[in-house]
Amino acid sequence: MILVVGGTGRLGRAAVPLLVQSGHRVRIMARGSSQPFATAVGAGVELFRGDLGSESDCRRAVEGCTAVVFAASGFGLKDSGPREVDRDGAIRLVRAAAAGGVQHLIMMSMHGAAPDGPIDYLRCKAAAEEAVRSSGMDWTVIRMGALLEQRLEDLTAAFGAKGKVPVFGSGSAPVTFTSVQDAAAVVLRAVRDPALRNRIIEWGSQTLTGNQLAEAVLARAGHGSVQRIPPAALRLLSVAARPFSPFLARVAGAGVWQESGAGAFDFGPGRADFPDIPITGLQQVLEASGAPGSPV
Ligand SMILES: NC(=O)c1ccc[n+]([C@@H]2O[C@H](COP(=O)([O-])OP(=O)(O)OC[C@H]3O[C@@H](n4cnc5c(N)ncnc54)[C@H](OP(=O)(O)O)[C@@H]3O)[C@@H](O)[C@H]2O)c1
Repeated sequence: MILVVGGTGRLGRAAVPLLVQSGHRVRIMARGSSQPFATAVGAGVELFRGDLGSESDCRRAVEGCTAVVFAASGFGLKDSGPREVDRDGAIRLVRAAAAGGVQHLIMMSMHGAAPDGPIDYLRCKAAAEEAVRSSGMDWTVIRMGALLEQRLEDLTAAFGAKGKVPVFGSGSAPVTFTSVQDAAAVVLRAVRDPALRNRIIEWGSQTLTGNQLAEAVLARAGHGSVQRIPPAALRLLSVAARPFSPFLARVAGAGVWQESGAGAFDFGPGRADFPDIPITGLQQVLEASGAPGSPV
């Protein structure tokens, strides 16, 4: 049995079917708060409604599991955040997994994770990585770039509401994105291939600028324009929004970090070991998402 924590999220929803198709039984853990919790699931999938904030939920979630994929996040939540989910929740789950006899834990992390990283999310991810590396279990850390589909969805939604595509900062800073499909493919590989044990893998799909993403959304729509949020406004929001919208402050803070160029990385070495996993970039994601204007 493989536990996918955050199995109702963007990556979880892609990884679970791959695992099931490969013959694994899967248990999904989530609260059923930010994402709908299915009332029925296919063969081979169990649902466990639980909260990473609860030790007993973490203990029950890992019962009978040989491997865990940690794919939960508080970054996008309004009622919680990275400290509660990506750091403390991950550490709680790692401890429960080690105590419960789990053999291998795959921790989804982010490029730039570091104890002294410039944004809280990266520091939280570093704490989770450290917890799993020192847990005594086999581990795999997968550091991704920002998820490409999520960024495209956000831009498309803003365009739908205002007829303008937002470009955060100068729009010229390179950012490495990871597509959900590529992330799910490497999760499956990490579960199945012992060669990925006890390694940190930097996993990207394509490096793009904000201007390139905006152009792609506008080209698909066939009309519209760009709305620029200047770097100074991002810096201001990343601090001023904290008291009334920690979520907005996090998004702006991530924008400031990406504006520095630190969001780009060379994913060639990480990919070189797995040449059989195809790269799903912007073009493929847009083609797979169907008609212009449809959600990505
Ligand atoms: N999105 C990105 O750009 C990005 C980039 C790099 C790394 N990552 C990492 O990759 C992983 C997958 O990201 P994603 O974007 O697919 O996540 P997501 O779509 O935001 O989904 C988050 C999942 O976590 C669950 N969750 C949140 N709080 C929880 C709690 N207290 N207890 C149990 N479950 C909880 C959510 O369900 P409920 O809220 O209903 O519980 C949901 O299933 C995460 O670890 C994330 O940090 C993401």
